[in-house]
Amino acid sequence: MKIIGTGSAHPKCSVTNEMLEKFLETTDEWITERTGIKERLVISSEKLEDMAVIAANKALEDANLTVADIDYIICSNVVNEYVTPALSCIIQGKLGATCPTLDINAACAGFIFALDMADDKLKCKKARNILIVCAEEPSRMVSWQNRSTCVLFGDGVGAAVVTDGDELKAMRLTTSSLTDVLYYQRKLEPTPYIDKEENFEPLVMKGREVFKHAVTNSCRDIRKVLAEANVKAEDVKYFVLHQANKRIIDSIRNFLGVDEERVPHNVERYGNISSAALPALLDELNRGGKLQKGDKLVFSAFGAGFTTGACVIEWAK
Ligand code: ACO
Repeated sequence: MKIIGTGSAHPKCSVTNEMLEKFLETTDEWITERTGIKERLVISSEKLEDMAVIAANKALEDANLTVADIDYIICSNVVNEYVTPALSCIIQGKLGATCPTLDINAACAGFIFALDMADDKLKCKKARNILIVCAEEPSRMVSWQNRSTCVLFGDGVGAAVVTDGDELKAMRLTTSSLTDVLYYQRKLEPTPYIDKEENFEPLVMKGREVFKHAVTNSCRDIRKVLAEANVKAEDVKYFVLHQANKRIIDSIRNFLGVDEERVPHNVERYGNISSAALPALLDELNRGGKLQKGDKLVFSAFGAGFTTGACVIEWAK
């Protein structure tokens, strides 16, 4: 597998820490110090599927392909306005594609799970060009009265086009069922027969536990994929990490002993945009002219589940 195009799209409404100070018992100083986040872009009038189409078209253009060349679409998403049809079906129609599509939910690690699935499809010759769209609106899962969670998230889309190639050097995925540290339940319709207790509350997160799992698992995953790919940390151009919190990014970087310039970040501008974070950051690097053919990149992400994913990729463009 190789990545041949990237794209991203973000909503227009910027919510700064100062804006949050107006209705939450919080301060810019607290948020900046604990998370590194200065502002987050959240959906106001936009529809997630329209942003997804913008990001997907950018990725197709970057790949020099048209929608007719795509024969599978994988959409990574945690929540959107529709339970059914799948978000990938809605995006397919708006793009004018005719290929099969599938939604996956591996939370914030979704992009790496999607890359793994795409690699399998390419190896089985079941597809030639695959579009991956990570479209997320976590701002709709949190209570905006809860200062512990709502300050962390933003919305956005990251997309990539992948095709046959030899540029995926190592891949590692993990799932460990840890359903109480981070979860969001959906409210279902009542029926005349339901007699169990059902509670609905906005996103629940045990922040410190998530922090610990994120750092420990990401360091372990990164070391394992580097060893599997026979690549030294010093030969990696960029470690493209999930953008949840600058302190998590810095902790992983310190444990791995990697200098700051090789661990790019944009969480300060977007907040945590779930699985869209990694492809959106990759798109920034690609469009900013920061990547050259042959560069070794490490991707690593973690999310609710608990899911983790990491891989080593050689940049192909
Ligand atoms: N402003 C001011 N005070 C706050 C805020 C806020 N926004 N949020 C929490 N506090 C308070 C708490 O109420 C608590 O007060 P108390 O001591 O009086 O009870 C105090 O600050 C300390 O709270 P902690 O939760 O212990 O603070 P911590 O240093 O752990 O930072 C944070 C919290 C930022 C959430 C951190 O734990 C973290 O980043 N965890 C990982 C979160 C994450 O990455 N989530 C997503 C991962 S998966 C995915 O991407 C979906």
